[in-house]
Amino acid sequence: MKLSKSLAIIPAVLIAYSMSPVVQADGGALFMSKTCWSCHGKDAKTPLIPIYPKLAGQNADYAFNQMKDIKSGARNNGQTAAMKGIMSLVNEAEMKEIATWLSQQ
Ligand code: HEC
Repeated sequence: MKLSKSLAIIPAVLIAYSMSPVVQADGGALFMSKTCWSCHGKDAKTPLIPIYPKLAGQNADYAFNQMKDIKSGARNNGQTAAMKGIMSLVNEAEMKEIATWLSQQ
């Protein structure tokens, strides 16, 4: 009797857990809402065209610094122009969140 009762609780706990907000989801949500996915792919590793970089698994500090440099113009080549305009949508705190999320993909 006791055992079957506690077994019945497990699915409820799992459902509650899967619905609870996960801190790391923030970067992923920003990646979607700030339209990053449209060029870099929803999974951050299926870019729109082959010469756009895959971002999944990238070191967080490196990714953050690249975003900062693309936004400021310090990094500037033929391809950065495509991304620079979008960077006005994100501040440094959001870039950090996204960079952390990218490193965990
Ligand atoms: C319009 C297309 C486009 C959008 C939208 C876009 N990017 Fe990019 N992104 C690029 C391109 C192209 C590059 C490569 C630039 C180059 O070759 O220097 C790049 C480079 C990067 C890099 C550096 C990768 C590396 O290996 O050095 C990061 C990190 C990045 N993007 C993150 C983001 C994030 C986060 C967003 C959303 C806020 C975003 N991008 C939105 C096109 C885009």
